[in-house]
Parts: sequence; C-alpha cells; structure tokens
Amino acid sequence: MKVAVLGAAGGIGQALALLLKLNLPKGSDLALYDIAPVTPGVAADISHIPTGVKATGFAGEDPTPALEGADVVLISAGVARKPGMDRSDLFNINAGIIRNLVGKCAQVCPTACIGVITNPVNTTVAIAAEVLKNAGVYDKRRLFGVTTLDVIRSETFIAEAKGLQTDEVKINVIGGHSGVTILPLLSQVEDVTFTDEEVTSLTHRIQNAGTEVVEAKAGGGSATLSMAQAACRFGTALVRGLQGEQGVVECAYVEGDGEHSRFFAQPVLLGKEGVAEVQSYGELSAFEKQAVADMMDTLIGDITKGEEFVNA
Ligand SMILES: NC(=O)c1ccc[n+]([C@@H]2O[C@H](COP(=O)([O-])OP(=O)(O)OC[C@H]3O[C@@H](n4cnc5c(N)ncnc54)[C@H](O)[C@@H]3O)[C@@H](O)[C@H]2O)c1
Repeated sequence: MKVAVLGAAGGIGQALALLLKLNLPKGSDLALYDIAPVTPGVAADISHIPTGVKATGFAGEDPTPALEGADVVLISAGVARKPGMDRSDLFNINAGIIRNLVGKCAQVCPTACIGVITNPVNTTVAIAAEVLKNAGVYDKRRLFGVTTLDVIRSETFIAEAKGLQTDEVKINVIGGHSGVTILPLLSQVEDVTFTDEEVTSLTHRIQNAGTEVVEAKAGGGSATLSMAQAACRFGTALVRGLQGEQGVVECAYVEGDGEHSRFFAQPVLLGKEGVAEVQSYGELSAFEKQAVADMMDTLIGDITKGEEFVNA
C-alpha cells in the first residue's frame, strides 16, 4: 500500500507522518508532500526510525510524484483556525487548495481513496466530490471526510466522566464536523447511562472541543497531535479494509443514501473498494432526533457552498 499525506510539513502532517511511519503495515510506502521546502527533510528525519515503512518527501508546487500509485491520500493542506474563528472562516483559503490538490489526485491517482482533513470538512468534501465528478472519476466509495477526531474526543470525555478505561468506550458520532453538526450518540454507549444534564453538557463539550484547543494554543493553531492520531486511526483502518480485512468500521463523513443530506457522517464498513457499506446508526433518542433536525440547515448549507464553489 502507498499512503500519501498532502500538507505533510504542517502541525497535523508531521505528527501524522510519524504515526503512519510507526503504524502502517510493513512494506508500505509513505509519501509526504507539502509546498514547504522542509518536507523532504521531514521524510529524511522519520526515515531513520527503524520500521518497515519507506518514507519519501516532496516539496514544491507539484504533488505528482507523491501521488503516483497512491492507494490512500490523506489531505491536511491548508490553514488552521486562530482564536475567534470558526471552521467556515477557513473556506476562502482552503477551498481553492482542496480544489487544486483533489484535481491532481483525479489526474494522477484517480482510484485512490481520499480522506479530507482540511476544514471546513462539511464543505471541503463537497468540493472534492465535485472536482472528481467533473473529471469523470468520482466514486463515492472512495471519498471520506475525516471526522475521527470527534470520535476519539467522545471516547476520552465519556471515559473521564464515567471512570471507564477509554478502550471500553465505543461510540458513533454522526452528522458533520463543525459545531451543532457534530452529534455523539450518547444514548447508544453500551453499559453507560447519562442524565439529561450530562447529555447536554457532554454533547456541548464534544461539539466545541476544537475551540478548547484553539483557545488553549492562544493563536498557535488548532488541534494537531490529537488530529494526527485520529487521522492515523482512520488511515490505517482504510488500509486494513483495502487489504481485505473483514469487519473494519469507522465513522466518516461520506456520500450515503442521502436520507438527511448528500454527505453525512455515520459508521462505515471499510473494504477493498473503500466504503463497503454505509451502516445504519440505529435508533436515536428524542434529544438526538431533535439535534439531527436542528443541524440540517447548517449541514446542507455547508454542502451547497462547496458544490457551488466548484460549479460556479
Ligand atoms: N478534520 C479535523 O477534525 C481537523 C482537526 C484539526 C484541524 N483540521 C484542519 O486541518 C488543516 C491543517 O491544520 P494544521 O494544524 O496542520 O495546519 P498547519 O498550518 O500547521 O499546516 C498546514 C500545511 O499545509 C501546507 N499547505 C498549504 N497549502 C498547500 C498546498 N497547496 N499544497 C500542499 N501543502 C499546502 C502548509 O505549507 C502547511 O505545512 C486545517 O484546515 C485545519 O482546520 C481538521
């Protein structure tokens, strides 16, 4: 398997490169690309770690050498939030970056699975889909918005709140990846019950956890290390599915049956073609049903903005 990271010199990209060097299966190729000239050095640096993963780095305007033969492309290229910004404030810069990079993927590795980390994910995934569609290579089984950070945050906060080991907590987080569109399905966490107050406060904390980090970093960026771990978990799950492992399921923001909106985050069974099955997220509580209803205007607006950006 060849995994390419675009934006590999950034806060997420470097940590993600390190984690993939440590966690991809032996024999994998890891290609790092960023416009920043340091990128070959990042690859040289991690290449000294003794694992069975071969890292190479590419800088400059053209990602082609990193994308050639790629099975998985993880994209974290773009700008991150500063205090006072929400994810939609990143649109003006990141929309164009995603359009260009995904356009290159369409040319160079049209059958690769693409995981979009760059915010605003609700919109950048729609941009990616339209670019791939216009290039005649869109396969909805191969495009993902990476929402795993919402899942790992939920696992951590629930374990903390309930005195559990984090590996005992399994939760689906559905919807999208910003504010009210992030919905952890607390009602379905096995062997745990929450009071109404706990549901309200935990949901609010998970939805705003990114802002917690942005404010704590005081102008130094947004979540990078936890995001890298989340993207490594998602990227390695994708690789395991592509290699034929059975039963690999992660939540991701994908094009499903469109029951709510064209793209919606929910549990996805990963297989040899990317998405093997978009799974049902089960019965919702009254609180969760209301939260889905309340998020739809925002989510659909975010998706439309991406579609219009490409097709204007
Ligand atoms: N999906 C999520 O849950 C999640 C979580 C946190 C952050 N993010 C997003 O991830 C993105 C990256 O965050 P970061 O903290 O790593 O930012 P960063 O500024 O540290 O790194 C971004 C990198 O992208 C590179 N870059 C910019 N334009 C490029 C281009 N055209 N081609 C290749 N590389 C390019 C920059 O040189 C830089 O190295 C941001 O959009 C951020 O909002 C997503």
